Amino acid sequence: MNPFNFEFQIKTKIKFGRGMIQELSESIYLFNINKIMIVVDHGIIDAGILSQITKVMDEEHINYFIFDKVKPDPTLAIVNEGLAFALENEIEGLIAVGGGSPIDTAKAIRTTFLSQKLNKGLKNKNLPLFTIPTTSGSGSEVTKAIVITDENSKRKFTAMDESLAPDLTIVDPELTKSLPQYLTAIGGMDALSHCIESYVSQNAVLPFEMIATKGIELVRKFLRPAVGNGSNMKAREGMSLASLFGGISLTNCGLGLVHAIAHPLGGKFKIPHGMVNTLLLPHVMKYNIISNPPKFAYIAELLGISISEMTEMEAAYQSVEEIKKLIEDIGLSTTLSQLGVPRDSFDELVNLTMEEKLMLNSNPRPVKKNDILKILKEAY
Ligand SMILES: [Fe+2]
Repeated sequence: MNPFNFEFQIKTKIKFGRGMIQELSESIYLFNINKIMIVVDHGIIDAGILSQITKVMDEEHINYFIFDKVKPDPTLAIVNEGLAFALENEIEGLIAVGGGSPIDTAKAIRTTFLSQKLNKGLKNKNLPLFTIPTTSGSGSEVTKAIVITDENSKRKFTAMDESLAPDLTIVDPELTKSLPQYLTAIGGMDALSHCIESYVSQNAVLPFEMIATKGIELVRKFLRPAVGNGSNMKAREGMSLASLFGGISLTNCGLGLVHAIAHPLGGKFKIPHGMVNTLLLPHVMKYNIISNPPKFAYIAELLGISISEMTEMEAAYQSVEEIKKLIEDIGLSTTLSQLGVPRDSFDELVNLTMEEKLMLNSNPRPVKKNDILKILKEAY
């Protein structure tokens, strides 16, 4: 794709900043809704985050109903349960609070609701959807994509549709303050893999390349300190922004081979998404380098390497080394064997990865079965 030919639109209105959650009530009024379904998981309630949000709504006497059945890797069964909850309580809008799982669940509920034409009696026919992320990584707060797991086959399915894009996201970095170290680390690596994969994607275009590259810089600057001290609000703010930028660029430019392998691998062995991406990212980058050396050399520069004395290829390979250093510094596993993935699963994983056409088509280098097998062996 010619990066100078593009359409530029972000459907989701973004309100970003510390303390921004205070503006929630005003946004609810603007969308002309009152009976709100809050989609959340127990972790968010236990961490005391939900009460910060409901307090704002209580002050303005806004009616809300809490749906707290969300689990990691949301399934169709949970989506259907949520849909029944929405109908039973005659809700007029949805607010998803949390990480990728509650947000994807709420998006799926809204899209199913609209596709079944259940919106006839609503004041706002669109059944508005707001997202309030409490983690930094998935980017789901702003994307038109969801990942849903089929509970029987344990396979993850990606769906993309304009109706999945939230109407508003309120990104308040204060809400990520209590996120544990491990989740901060893997979320940050997920955001980084979104920025890198969308930047080198075959569908990358200039405005989103600018956003993705800024996201890479933000991760370089703020992931280590966010993991090192979770109450460093400057670092939390930087990582919230990196997550948002990753989401904006991935939803417009697509992803690549890291995510194509990560979905079947994470689904089959129940390994958190950000952790699988972490393991795969350096190996996939190394594989992709020859498809676009200038971009990978620029990634090295964005990661803080002085490349002026290097050849383009030396600089490009240095980007991979820098990612490995980052992974080591934030204390994450570096091999598939450490996570208990058996070698005899590789053939099946290769076949499942080949079915991830959406992501393989945007990967900068064409991929064959043998290439995937080689990457899995290297990551072992
Ligand atoms: Fe991801």
